[in-house]
Amino acid sequence: MKPKILITRAIFPDVIQRLEKVFEVDSNISDKIYSEAELIEKCHDKDGIFSNPADRISAKFMQACTQLKAVCNMAVGYNNIDVAAATNAGIKVTNTPDVLNQTTADFAWALLMATARRVTESEHFLRAGKWEKLTYDGFLGADVYGSTLGIIGMGRIGQAIARRSMGFDMKVVYHNRSQLTPEQEAYANHAQYKSRDQVLQEADHIILVLPYSPAVHHYIGAAEIALMKPTATLINIARGGIVDDAALIAALQRGQIAAAGLDVFENEPAFNQEFLNCTNVVLTPHIGSATESARRAMANCAADNLIAALSGKTPPNLLNPESA
Ligand code: GLV
Repeated sequence: MKPKILITRAIFPDVIQRLEKVFEVDSNISDKIYSEAELIEKCHDKDGIFSNPADRISAKFMQACTQLKAVCNMAVGYNNIDVAAATNAGIKVTNTPDVLNQTTADFAWALLMATARRVTESEHFLRAGKWEKLTYDGFLGADVYGSTLGIIGMGRIGQAIARRSMGFDMKVVYHNRSQLTPEQEAYANHAQYKSRDQVLQEADHIILVLPYSPAVHHYIGAAEIALMKPTATLINIARGGIVDDAALIAALQRGQIAAAGLDVFENEPAFNQEFLNCTNVVLTPHIGSATESARRAMANCAADNLIAALSGKTPPNLLNPESA
């Protein structure tokens, strides 16, 4: 008998077909987001789950799904999964690192450039039929070339973002849980290790790329925003909850910093609607890894992990080896 799996959300049909060759697959073509109760109901007899960052895979879920052996998330982030509870229950957890590094680094730059140079704000002005003449001071933005880039969270994506800054002749300062090796710093445009607060004080443009955990909830709040230059921009491509969105809205509204570019939000997709009243913010719906090739690679990576986990092998991206 084939092992049983649930694919919690819609994914590429050919990846479903690939999984159907080895598993009895329950898939979710409608793409409805299942509640915790629905997930438990669907998974009580499943051996594995192909999950999405919008699914809450809680301790209660692990306890209820006694057959479950693997949770394979199609994302590099896995803060939607209680990994400690999975480990206690002997359930393997995997993510999809690396395959999205370059795509996500490209997107961080798209958001930085759009934010610094007021791309969406000026496009809205044009679309609204308000463009009557060219003015010397219309939509003045911040220079990117030759400025200082601050990166908080210098993992593989952070390093790929920093490397791109070579072409803009930027100085790079970064903060991370630990300092990179000299080779990694050289690769990342000779990035200089600093404290978080030094990065906030020194950088012209700050990009957040750190993983979310309760320890970094509201890591950037009113006090941290107050350290930033009044001309600075803040970009968040990491996770909602790292920034205190209410504090950021207050800072944007009083012009305490120049602008923000946000791909992730607290409580997304039900984000704080006050952002819509701020002209100095670029807002995108969590699309950092959204290219066909990156999303396909992520889907196949999650599938590889699930196939390995349910055939008794060590999955390539196992997050909790102590679960075995
Ligand atoms: C997307 O946010 C991911 O974690 O891959």
